[in-house]
Amino acid sequence: MELEGTNISFKYPSAKNYILKDIDMHLDNQKIYGLIGDSGSGKSTLCKILSGYVNKYEGEVTLDGNKLPQKEFCPVQLIYQHPEKVMNPKWKMNDVLGESWDVNDELLSEFGIQKSWLTRFPQELSGGELQRFSVLRALNPKTKFLIADEMTTMLDAITQVQILDSVLNIVKERKMGFLLVSHDMDLVDTICDEKIYLKDINKV
Ligand SMILES: Nc1ncnc2c1ncn2[C@@H]1O[C@H](COP(=O)(O)OP(=O)(O)OP(=O)(O)O)[C@@H](O)[C@H]1O
Ligand SMILES: [Mg+2]
Repeated sequence: MELEGTNISFKYPSAKNYILKDIDMHLDNQKIYGLIGDSGSGKSTLCKILSGYVNKYEGEVTLDGNKLPQKEFCPVQLIYQHPEKVMNPKWKMNDVLGESWDVNDELLSEFGIQKSWLTRFPQELSGGELQRFSVLRALNPKTKFLIADEMTTMLDAITQVQILDSVLNIVKERKMGFLLVSHDMDLVDTICDEKIYLKDINKV
């Protein structure tokens, strides 16, 4: 499993300057990768490009040599830093989750999701509760590469470890690739085999 970004450059249409320039990344499922960089340096933007959420960029992203599909399910899944921004406020959580896949009860309980939350709207849940859905939604059986963008910042320390543990078990079991973005150097040191500093690969 190889996720490759070649010569990636990006500028937001409203901005004057590029925030990402000529980035090359070669990731596989042999290691757990950690992406580190200052706030505002472009980590989330890079994650969105690597997972197919942004399609107007320069360069190329491929998974095992193939471009990411635009219409079908994307095998590179992103767990967003701000889940509330990407969930339809008019959908109940049942539908938010069901849009991706049919999650079984065992996984719901492993991720600490209470059944009663399924019939609520996103704005009726706390940030941490919502993030559990976001994690689970990304763990569709068709996912080959998982990118977690600050996924645990909304959770308390114990829940953070529990959820990360569950995710890492699934990553290992399914032999998925995993890129973790985090400000928490201790966390990155603990779980990642390789650290990638955005400033080292970004030629802005
Ligand atoms: N939709 C947008 N339109 C214009 N500029 C944006 C947009 N989203 C982000 N930016 C800007 O692009 C830069 C990179 O943002 P990004 O969210 O990728 O940073 P980040 O490294 O993830 O930061 P953080 O660590 O705070 O999450 C920032 O300067 C931000 O203000
Ligand atoms: Mg970010």
